[in-house]
Amino acid sequence: EQVDIDETQALKGEYDHFLLKEIFEQPAAVSRAMGEGGRLLHDFGTAKLGGLNLDKRDFFDIERIHVLAMGTGYYAGCVGGAMIEHLARIPVQVFDASEYRVSNPIVKRDTLYLAISQSGETADTILAVKEVQNKGGRVLGIVNVVGSTLARLTEGGVYTHAGPEKSVASTKAFTSQVTVMALLALLLGRMRDVPVRRGKELVDAMMALPDRIHETLGLRDRIKEIAEKYKGYGSMLFMGRGNYYPIALEGALKLKEISYIHAEGFSSGGLKHGPLALISPDMPSLFIAMDGDFLDKDIGNIQEVRAREGKVIVLTDSDDPRLEDLASDIIKIPATDEVLAPILAVVPLQLFAYYVSLALGREIDQPRNLAKSVTVE
Ligand code: G6P
Repeated sequence: EQVDIDETQALKGEYDHFLLKEIFEQPAAVSRAMGEGGRLLHDFGTAKLGGLNLDKRDFFDIERIHVLAMGTGYYAGCVGGAMIEHLARIPVQVFDASEYRVSNPIVKRDTLYLAISQSGETADTILAVKEVQNKGGRVLGIVNVVGSTLARLTEGGVYTHAGPEKSVASTKAFTSQVTVMALLALLLGRMRDVPVRRGKELVDAMMALPDRIHETLGLRDRIKEIAEKYKGYGSMLFMGRGNYYPIALEGALKLKEISYIHAEGFSSGGLKHGPLALISPDMPSLFIAMDGDFLDKDIGNIQEVRAREGKVIVLTDSDDPRLEDLASDIIKIPATDEVLAPILAVVPLQLFAYYVSLALGREIDQPRNLAKSVTVE
């Protein structure tokens, strides 16, 4: 694709890179993913998704959901799948589409298949979808690019409407995918056990989410300072628990993609089962330690790392003073409904990866060896 340099700068507007522009577009992108509120029904505390092409009665027969995706879409599937399990109590499994396709998958009538893709052109995801369809399975798409191969191939679905994403590393597509999964979780949840009052609470929290993301973006200068402190390390660990575990994986992916610093994500509970051996003053960690039932466990994990002289960046929405004391650096984000909080938690990790890469002078929008959409196997 030949693009004029002036034209490219015009598209970036006030931003130096598409990545930063796309990170900052997230309040608007997430709002569009909610149809600017039109995909939410406040009085019923539920969501309305017109493109699913499913009769409401079909929903009764769904016994499980299989999600097929690659890269960042895969992590969006993990976060969104947990939302569906939590609210609707439908078992969800998320698959690397390239693996699913070669696994001779068991396709069943009572399974709903969901393909998640920004571009709608990822070969591995398309082939997995075709494998399911050839075996009679019904596949819905959560796709960003209107009219793309996956959008046409699937029987129905939901467009994320994040707008064009140019930077290879995916940001606003991710938060929009998770937002759409949250809508689906709300819809399925309200058809099962979620009472209207809880549904309304979630609708309100979703409507307020763009503002919370906007506030989180206000941390950019603080995150830039932290990024400059950590840019010199050769490797970094990301940890989180529950629905922050896939967020930790996504944070590590962002950092390795654009900074070329080796980064790995682990579950916080997995720390003792291997990663702890890596901890030293040369191996910093980023811990997502959010308010809730597991904060004490997170604090225990952070103590274990600090006791081995590992530096720890803590990402939290909690005011617990123990976190301030333990953290080498702390990033404090606004609170929101605990179901939606992972969407906020990813934003500082995107900014962190951006500013580390900026400090290192990397090719932020076009990292070496990577492509925006991988159209070959
Ligand atoms: C490539 C891109 C990633 C993206 C993945 C899946 O690896 O570099 O940013 O997450 O493909 O792409 P898709 O368009 O299917 O979401």
